[in-house]
Amino acid sequence: MRRAEERATATTPVSMQRDVLTVAERLGQLRREAERIGPLADVLVALPRRGRLYEIAQPDDTERLLDRAAADPEQNLPYWAEIWPSGIALADEISCHRGDLRRQRVLELGSGIGVTAIAALKAEAELTVADYASESLILCRYNALRNTGREPATIQINWRQPDQAAFAGTVGAFPVILAADVLYETRDVEPLLALVGRLVTAGGLLWLAEPGRPVAARFLEAAREEGWEGPTEMHPGPWPDPKDDGVVVRLHKLRRAG
Ligand SMILES: C[S@@+](CC[C@H](N)C(=O)[O-])C[C@H]1O[C@@H](n2cnc3c(N)ncnc32)[C@H](O)[C@@H]1O
Repeated sequence: MRRAEERATATTPVSMQRDVLTVAERLGQLRREAERIGPLADVLVALPRRGRLYEIAQPDDTERLLDRAAADPEQNLPYWAEIWPSGIALADEISCHRGDLRRQRVLELGSGIGVTAIAALKAEAELTVADYASESLILCRYNALRNTGREPATIQINWRQPDQAAFAGTVGAFPVILAADVLYETRDVEPLLALVGRLVTAGGLLWLAEPGRPVAARFLEAAREEGWEGPTEMHPGPWPDPKDDGVVVRLHKLRRAG
């Protein structure tokens, strides 16, 4: 953690609709906020094809998070706290095609702790990320700033109960929407497709990465019925966690008929 903080210059201003802080000051502030979630582990994540290395802080005590989730009436498990092959594969793809996102207004849904967000910011996207877990948004901001010197805009939202105000002024506003491994519960299929359809520009893109889950297949079928189409690429890793050996991520690059 220290190495990256030391690399941040003491004079770079970070403007975030609050006081102007240096990158180092803002990193310190976000790190303190993130540590309130619980102990953190700092890990290196390698992008398989581009070979880029990201420094990622992630919660080190998932038991504690699971205990907290047990009290959640919606039973939302803390999947945001892990690093998933789909997020890495999507980051890798963005890193190989940076021009597709450069200076584009981009939305990432279910951003977790920010692996994909880092690649989008490195590609110079104007990035907004959305997730229901406020803790994930803090870590996403921290990991993004630490690796890119920039933070995304953040929206805390559960797309099963969309707060119309949260996306005010952004209907049909995003030429690119990203999502990595967000389809594992049937209850998400319909609201997610409706939200993407509402927020994407006419003829816009959805880059969806997923590891072959049946719920994702259901989403894709419904999306195709609504006019989304495009190729699927396979990404076999390797992934940092040996428990993910054998996972093949499908990257669907869908475009909605304009
Ligand atoms: C499996 S994790 C993937 C995280 C990240 N995209 C990655 O690949 O590392 C799923 C993410 O989607 C978020 N998510 C799942 N269902 C959601 C919902 N209904 N509304 C908002 N966020 C949701 C979770 O909080 C989590 O961050």
